[in-house]
Amino acid sequence: MKEGKASWTAQGVTFYRALESARPEGEAAFSDPLAAELLDSWFAWVARRRHRRRIAGLVIGNSALSISYRSVVDRTVLIDDCVSLTRAAGIEQLVLLGAGFDTRAYRLIGPDGPVKVFEVDHPDTQRIKLARLKKAIGPLPDNVVYVPVDFEQEKTETRLLESGYDGGAATLFIWEGVMSYLTPEAVDETLALIAGNYGSGSTVVFTYLLLEASGDREARTRRRHETFLRMRGEPHIFWIDADQIEEFLSRRGLELVESRNLPLPARATGRRRFQERPAHGAIAFARVR
Ligand SMILES: C[S@@+](CC[C@H](N)C(=O)[O-])C[C@H]1O[C@@H](n2cnc3c(N)ncnc32)[C@H](O)[C@@H]1O
Repeated sequence: MKEGKASWTAQGVTFYRALESARPEGEAAFSDPLAAELLDSWFAWVARRRHRRRIAGLVIGNSALSISYRSVVDRTVLIDDCVSLTRAAGIEQLVLLGAGFDTRAYRLIGPDGPVKVFEVDHPDTQRIKLARLKKAIGPLPDNVVYVPVDFEQEKTETRLLESGYDGGAATLFIWEGVMSYLTPEAVDETLALIAGNYGSGSTVVFTYLLLEASGDREARTRRRHETFLRMRGEPHIFWIDADQIEEFLSRRGLELVESRNLPLPARATGRRRFQERPAHGAIAFARVR
């Protein structure tokens, strides 16, 4: 990440969520009205005007970007469902690891229920999110705790415990779009924090990048994407082989429930040649044993 600046990729996925939320009722996969308010610069300029959104939608829908757009939409729906289900089942804590501009604390949990939310993120991203959030919603809810942490430099568990996290409370951990930016050491440390939770029914949902892109064209698209991310200061540095995910988690004390490639086949849109492209990423649901 570029020092002193909010994560660019966090802005990018929030931009996708703002575009999806602005689609006509009945067509949008979800509604995240805060997303557009948390954007700035070019992203805000486009997201806040209908004709610019339409042009952006056309460009995305007819290019290789449609894969990442659909992946973000699908993972948002799946994780939202996971929050609703685990909330109904009685979770006590929601921990967002690398929260970015995630708005689930405000649109799905709300201030009055029993669930305590911990938004953990890099200090540079979190500072900017908090400034924009206060502008958008006013005073921040009491049930949300903001924990600034650099996963590469600090022990997340220590910072969470200092902030009131209870390792014995039933918890849903969300680690969305973060793992691929971390070193293996930071990935293992974060998984150890999750596996160390001993609350009954604790679970984790996370997204990961698949090790191999199949075919020459896929490899070329992927290389271009990787070069672009490197230029933005947020290179991908961590992948998992889909065939190994169960064992990968098991060795770290977690039990895989399900892993699904993204975007989900039924939701792929855009021109036919893009619909047929294979997935680059996946989403996994796992139980803390
Ligand atoms: C692609 S964004 C995803 C944000 C959010 N989870 C979402 O899906 O909208 C990646 C997030 O990881 C965070 N991140 C990347 N490296 C980090 C690090 N070393 N320590 C803490 N957070 C980090 C960024 O600040 C950013 O919020």
